[in-house]
Amino acid sequence: MYLFLVLSLHTLWVAVSIAMQHGHYDMCKTQTKSDEGIVWEYMACQPESRDMTPYLKVKLEPPNSTCGDPPEPFCAMGNPYMCNNECDASTKELAHPPELMFDSEGRNPSTFWQSVTWKNYPAPLQINVTLSWGKTIELTQNIAITFESGRPEKMILEKSLDYGLTWQPYQFYAADCLDAFRMEPKSVKDLTSSTVLDIICTEEYSTGYATHTKTISFEIKDRFAIFAGPRLHNMASLYSQLDTTKNLRDFFTVTDLRIRLLKPATGATFVDERNLERYFYAISDIKIHGRCKCNLHANSCTFTNNRLACDCEHNTTGQDCERCKKNYQGQAWSPGSYLTIPKGTANICVSSMPSIFPKVAHSTVPPARVSSHKRDCYCYGHSNRCTYIEVVNTAVCVGCRHNTHGQQCEKCKKGFHRNGSAKLDDVNVCIANICDNELLRCQNGGVCHNNMRCLCPSGYTGILCEKQKCEDTGSCSSKSGQESISHNLYLITMIIVTRLCTF
Ligand SMILES: *[C@@H]1O[C@H](CO)[C@@H](O)[C@H](O)[C@H]1NC(C)=O
Ligand SMILES: *[C@@H]1O[C@H](CO)[C@@H](O)[C@H](O)[C@H]1NC(C)=O
Ligand SMILES: *[C@@H]1O[C@H](CO)[C@@H](O)[C@H](O)[C@H]1NC(C)=O
Ligand SMILES: *[C@@H]1O[C@H](CO)[C@@H](O)[C@H](O)[C@H]1NC(C)=O
Repeated sequence: MYLFLVLSLHTLWVAVSIAMQHGHYDMCKTQTKSDEGIVWEYMACQPESRDMTPYLKVKLEPPNSTCGDPPEPFCAMGNPYMCNNECDASTKELAHPPELMFDSEGRNPSTFWQSVTWKNYPAPLQINVTLSWGKTIELTQNIAITFESGRPEKMILEKSLDYGLTWQPYQFYAADCLDAFRMEPKSVKDLTSSTVLDIICTEEYSTGYATHTKTISFEIKDRFAIFAGPRLHNMASLYSQLDTTKNLRDFFTVTDLRIRLLKPATGATFVDERNLERYFYAISDIKIHGRCKCNLHANSCTFTNNRLACDCEHNTTGQDCERCKKNYQGQAWSPGSYLTIPKGTANICVSSMPSIFPKVAHSTVPPARVSSHKRDCYCYGHSNRCTYIEVVNTAVCVGCRHNTHGQQCEKCKKGFHRNGSAKLDDVNVCIANICDNELLRCQNGGVCHNNMRCLCPSGYTGILCEKQKCEDTGSCSSKSGQESISHNLYLITMIIVTRLCTF
């Protein structure tokens, strides 16, 4: 009996981890029957997270920084006094071109890119490895760079959001942060929800020449965990944060990454000038997982003619589904929204030829004509177009923006509530719900306050009161551990039920 329980728990864990990997928001639309006939229901959707290395281009600066042209000797890893190895770019077995950073590893011996040695010492040995996708992507897992040489003593990971035009540091890595970059050493574990966007210098990955750990990480998951909990069990909370905080969303978004190798591992205070063949960079593997950024308007992305592009739905178009298709510009384009969880809001582009029932696919109502009398059409500034319904002699606003709806765009649409301090014509008049009674429920007995905040009972914290305070201090008793397992089982069941219901 006990074994059975353990096994079924395990199965459920596998189920939840699969659900996580496949992510939520994997359907853009679904057909449902209603009184009005067959209707399409549109949802926010995004492509699955996957290995993004097959789609990148790699560039080295300076271009002649790969070893082997001309052939040169280098010292064995782990034994700097065995210097009878040779790198020769013209012999396949002895060459170490950049592609070898992205081939599959797991074989022995590993294959790797290798730089020239530090033969120009004391001139610095500095190399940029730039990875470009030509497409905006959203990172979903830790970046992991595995060195075959010692890990560099100084390195900067940089990112670009504009195809390489401008660059910002992502993280600094050094054996001594103060000395190398005049920054206090920090760890991602020190970050909180208010400092999550801070750029830090870490000393965790630069320890010496002869250690067995060879990987340098950029920790995406630890940053997600600040919102979603240590096992990422509350993705709802993460998605609400991503939805409402553009800076946070942009933080995980890149078009290019650059690894700036600034100083090779030396393992000692002084560089051994008689054995400069000891010093070089070698990278055997780079792991980058992410998804195409499609503004929540596509659930797949294809690679054709060496270029990634979203397969846009919701009558959007463009590489990132960043605009409305021709003849579908009835209202301003906007990205889909993760809220309200779990299906989100599609924010589809609507026809420029308005119909009063735009969502009904097989409607028999003839398209209503656009009112030519501007004065009839008043929409509190959230739209400037109306349909005119002759039978009842009324103008109805079309394409209300800023999350409003109603005859005069005077109400907030589902999942949003009225901002008390904004007038009806303010663009901020409707605010996304953080909690409501439908799907964004406060947990563990928390009470939803003004759709903005869960008031948590003592002992609980988190946006939806999903977290026990003891989780932060690591002082949870085993009983509460059990409660948190059953809480997770509840969430898993909810995920599975929700998924079944969407079919
Ligand atoms: C590497 O890129 C940075 C900008 O990100 C640039 O300032 C630097 O000169 C480049 N280094 C090399 C060796 O090209
Ligand atoms: C790479 O080329 C530049 C310019 O031609 C030269 O100054 C530099 O020494 C070369 N670097 C190496 C490591 O061969
Ligand atoms: C988009 O346009 C096509 C072609 O007119 C139509 O069939 C489809 O239902 C439209 N709506 C969405 C949201 O895709
Ligand atoms: C409510 O509206 C005011 C006035 O426009 C605005 O300053 C404020 O940021 C809005 N509140 C939210 C939560 O958006």
